[in-house]
Amino acid sequence: MKRTTVLIVLIQGALAQIISTCKDFSFDAVTEVLSAECVPSNMVGYVTTALNLNDCFAYTGGQILARTNGNYGQSCEGCHLYIAPDPVYGYPKDTYWMNCTCRGQSAEVAVSLEDTAGSQWVTNQNGHLVC
Ligand SMILES: *[C@@H]1O[C@H](CO)[C@@H](O)[C@H](O)[C@H]1NC(C)=O
Repeated sequence: MKRTTVLIVLIQGALAQIISTCKDFSFDAVTEVLSAECVPSNMVGYVTTALNLNDCFAYTGGQILARTNGNYGQSCEGCHLYIAPDPVYGYPKDTYWMNCTCRGQSAEVAVSLEDTAGSQWVTNQNGHLVC
C-alpha cells in the first residue's frame, strides 16, 4: 500500500487527532470559539473550521468535563490553550489543553481537549472540529 493510501485509511477510519492534522489554531476567550485549519479525509489541503467549546464542556464539581452542550463559559472565563503531555499516553505525545479561571476557585482549572476521561473528545472529522 502506498503511504498516502495508508494515511487516508487512518483518517477515515478514526477521528483524527487535532494536534497532528490541524494547524493555525486560534481561540477567542470571549466567545469560547476554537478555530483552525484541518486536513479533510481526502488529505487534500486544509479546511477552515470552528467549534464553540461551550458545545463540548461543562463546569461541574470544580472541574471542566467533557459534556455535550455543557456551557462551561457560564462559570469560567479567561480561558487559554496550551500544549502539554497527553493525560493518557503521557510524554512525548503532546495534546492541546485549556486552562480557565472558574467560579469559586483561585487556581486555574485545566482540561485536556483531546483525551478527556480517557477517550477522544475534540477531534478532526473530515476537516471539521467536532466533539
Ligand atoms: C493550568 O492549570 C494547572 C492547574 O491549576 C496549572 O498547574 C498549570 O500551571 C496551568 N498551566 C498553564 C499553562 O496555565
